[in-house]
Amino acid sequence: MSTSQDEFSVRGSFRLVDDLAAEISEELTTEFSNVVVIHPQQPLLQEAVSNVIDTLSNYYKVSVMEIPDGESGKSLSICEKIWQHLEDHQSNRRTLLIGIGGGAVLDVAGFAASTFMRGIAFWSIPTTLLSMVDAGIGGKTAINFSGFKNHVGTFTHPSKIWICPQILSHLPETEMLNGWAECVKHGLLEGDELWEKCKNQIPPVQPHTLISFWKPFIEQQAMFKANIVEQDFKENGLRETLNAGHTVAHALESYYTKHNLPIAHGTAVAWGLLIESEAAPWHSTQSKSSAESRSITSKNGHSEDWIQTLQYLVTTQYPSLQIAKHHSIELAIEEILEYANSDKKNHHGKIVGSVLESPGNCKIQTPLNKSTLKSLLSKYLQA
Ligand code: GLY
Repeated sequence: MSTSQDEFSVRGSFRLVDDLAAEISEELTTEFSNVVVIHPQQPLLQEAVSNVIDTLSNYYKVSVMEIPDGESGKSLSICEKIWQHLEDHQSNRRTLLIGIGGGAVLDVAGFAASTFMRGIAFWSIPTTLLSMVDAGIGGKTAINFSGFKNHVGTFTHPSKIWICPQILSHLPETEMLNGWAECVKHGLLEGDELWEKCKNQIPPVQPHTLISFWKPFIEQQAMFKANIVEQDFKENGLRETLNAGHTVAHALESYYTKHNLPIAHGTAVAWGLLIESEAAPWHSTQSKSSAESRSITSKNGHSEDWIQTLQYLVTTQYPSLQIAKHHSIELAIEEILEYANSDKKNHHGKIVGSVLESPGNCKIQTPLNKSTLKSLLSKYLQA
């Protein structure tokens, strides 16, 4: 009897590998009739993609399809092209679809696989830090629809996730920083060893640390997420904590996209984590002094203001929030709050978020006060 998707072992499905092509070849079986590989138009990935395709071609009939990188590839029309490609290459219920790329490519490839003939096998090969620790794990598939991000999708686990940290050595530092924000988020949610590592690893990217630091770190990060997903696959509670910082992050992304100044998701998440943590009702109430409510005892026994630590981390590593030209700070704040107000997670007209009370302690569906958000945005936005 097959295991239901809800009981699926996410931890059991991912492999952390040094040599992607070699280790894939060891796991190939005769269960697949053919293989379709989806990857982005991304020259930096060419070598990794070619190695995987060469390996697979020794065993199967392989066809390859390139799709646009990033959010522009997450459309119904691209998904339709993938279905058509599957159709044109005589695919059937025993076809394996492999997605190689960042979160957006894996989202649309996973969605196409989960819906073609009611679902065919899907292997995910994340190639960015963000997708290795977050987007590539957990079985959320999606396309954007009617102007809304991730509006149509399924919860379907990939049957295998191949994580090869060596691929990261080809990526620019900005891309590492993008994923680093989700690592910090996991660190704050875990509140212990992972948070210590995130605090002390500045700047985050040094190629020579790739193996000694990144391999075990990525494994720990991926395990952390896998653990949460295994407990709450369909996001009925615990998994919502993974949205920490994302109410403000999505509002910032929408504002910058509207003004043709798109910012990286990681930049938005980093600022979102900081602003939401500072805006939390428990830090702004008068019952405790704010320094007292923000103080934690760190591993070395010292008392520490964790929000100050986060503030340092965000302000020194991420680009500042420069508002659109010819726009006043007041107007920018108004627009950002309007976007936050229309977030689908909100209830009864209140802005809510998954907000950290302290590292290791996140409260979902926490109301965020508009005037507190307003003053924090005026503190951090720059004209
Ligand atoms: N990225 C949040 C989640 O997968 O639930």
